[in-house]
Amino acid sequence: MLVLVIGGAGYIGSHSARALRRAGHDVIVFDNLSTGYEFLASGFELIQGDILDAPALKRVLSRVDAVMHFAAHAYVGESVVNPKKYFRNNVEGGLSLLNAMVESGVKKIIFSSTCAVYGEPAKVPIDETTPRQPVNPYGVSKLFFEQALASYDRAYGLRFASLRYFNAAGADESGEIGELHEPETHLIPLALSAAAGTGPQLQVFGSDYPTPDGTCIRDYIHVNDLADAHVKALAHLSSGNESFAVNLGTGTGYSVQQVISAVEQATGKTVPRRLAPRRPGDPPALVANPAKAQALIHWKANRGLPEIVATAWKWMQSRSAMRA
Ligand SMILES: NC(=O)c1ccc[n+]([C@@H]2O[C@H](COP(=O)([O-])OP(=O)(O)OC[C@H]3O[C@@H](n4cnc5c(N)ncnc54)[C@H](O)[C@@H]3O)[C@@H](O)[C@H]2O)c1
Repeated sequence: MLVLVIGGAGYIGSHSARALRRAGHDVIVFDNLSTGYEFLASGFELIQGDILDAPALKRVLSRVDAVMHFAAHAYVGESVVNPKKYFRNNVEGGLSLLNAMVESGVKKIIFSSTCAVYGEPAKVPIDETTPRQPVNPYGVSKLFFEQALASYDRAYGLRFASLRYFNAAGADESGEIGELHEPETHLIPLALSAAAGTGPQLQVFGSDYPTPDGTCIRDYIHVNDLADAHVKALAHLSSGNESFAVNLGTGTGYSVQQVISAVEQATGKTVPRRLAPRRPGDPPALVANPAKAQALIHWKANRGLPEIVATAWKWMQSRSAMRA
């Protein structure tokens, strides 16, 4: 199958493009490089373009069988102060893509959704029946797109998979590609760069949560496990199955303190850190119940926190070697 990977020069998209290739698919990457990097898409045909540019989309859609849609703005805090930017790209851009797909007759899409659609759920682990009540514009923009997909399915027969990722982390085992956000806001790369002395000391937001060690608990999912789920989701839709939404997580949560310990173990260095107040809208624990993904698309995470931290550390070291 020829798959258009939109946002394929970004973190999760670049790993998914490689997973598609390993599974025997052909890939075209479409990316405006706003937060992506050309070298993350090297080895693939890269079309530099924006999802708001319908003619550019239609030109490439005429060549492909399916779409994977990773392109979005994805900083929760920024979405609160600049919702316009988020609705423009994630909602208007998303609709531009869906309309171009309908006009081009491309009927399959895999969408990068997020556990942020659940907001602050009353209980964990979170399954797909949990009410979707996002608490920030980023989550609202993702929920809107999920609902647009359902409408386009009913009206135009577009088949979709909404994959609700928990916390993506880790890097390809090759050390060739990995996480590269500017600015970086994710815990594991921040803890690694603090340990390596290449970044500021780590801020631990909140140490008085109702969790065993007082720090927040999250479900960290290896990026290559996510990438494999995309390949399985595509296979599921391609066999003629109905559209679906699933959580993608490991089902195991780790606290900030446990992640810091894993980073210290992997690097052999101390993570310099300081305690900071809680951030508004940060729930104590977000952990997936991944049972539906296992039952429906026969997927489960194969890698745990040690592999996540080890591959992220390998990537960080190979990045500094590349730059040296
Ligand atoms: N990283 C996570 O933990 C996480 C968790 C849940 C959901 N997600 C979602 O997964 C997706 C990928 O996240 P990521 O961490 O790889 O981010 P990323 O910023 O590395 O990748 C996004 C890519 O999309 C491209 N892009 C953005 N707007 C575009 C546009 N208008 N036209 C064309 N290309 C555009 C960017 O240049 C970038 O290459 C996003 O939709 C994000 O909301 C990420």
